[in-house]
Amino acid sequence: MSWSVQQEGLRPINVSATGGQLLHLLAWISGARRILEIGTLGGYSAIWLARALPADGKLISLEISEHHASVARHNLAQAGLANKVEVRVGPALATLTAMEEAGEAPFDLVFIDADKEGYSAYLPKAVALVRAGGLILADNTLPDEVLVPTGDSGAKRYNAAVAAHSALLSTIVPVLRRQGLDGLTISIKRG
Ligand SMILES: C[S@@+](CC[C@H](N)C(=O)[O-])C[C@H]1O[C@@H](n2cnc3c(N)ncnc32)[C@H](O)[C@@H]1O
Repeated sequence: MSWSVQQEGLRPINVSATGGQLLHLLAWISGARRILEIGTLGGYSAIWLARALPADGKLISLEISEHHASVARHNLAQAGLANKVEVRVGPALATLTAMEEAGEAPFDLVFIDADKEGYSAYLPKAVALVRAGGLILADNTLPDEVLVPTGDSGAKRYNAAVAAHSALLSTIVPVLRRQGLDGLTISIKRG
């Protein structure tokens, strides 16, 4: 596969290989057939997730940038996943609201990896769109500042929101990055 992210001017802010493997494993062991991703970039995490889907599985990935979406579609086609993955372009909150209003079929797994300031607004949409027993995953939720008691950040607000959500049971797992550690918040919707 010709992998093109930096060649296309995209920042290398995709999940690490370790993070991709964790996503693949979680999609696989949860038997996910329908996956929703928020934040496509060049399609790297979408490829890890989509490769865990069964033959008739589907992944919908939301991306604000038309250029990123076009690079991702190219990479997904190169990976033989064009028939399983649909990239929808627009601000994620608007796309999620439209999906909810249109009565989109429930997802088995939602992966949040877009603008960190938006995470808390994406959470209620993800809870509405995931089935009972389904997973909501959020990336970059254990940056250094999360361990500092004072201060505010999108990741801190997101972790506080999942911890307080009565429909969710959650934990954070550390994930290896290019430099050091970050984390993935894993929540299951009680059913
Ligand atoms: C960290 S990157 C995603 C990385 C990707 N999940 C991967 O690991 O390969 C974040 C992406 O979210 C997109 N994004 C940022 N704000 C957004 C928004 N409001 N709605 C949809 N996508 C957004 C960015 O353009 C960027 O492509």
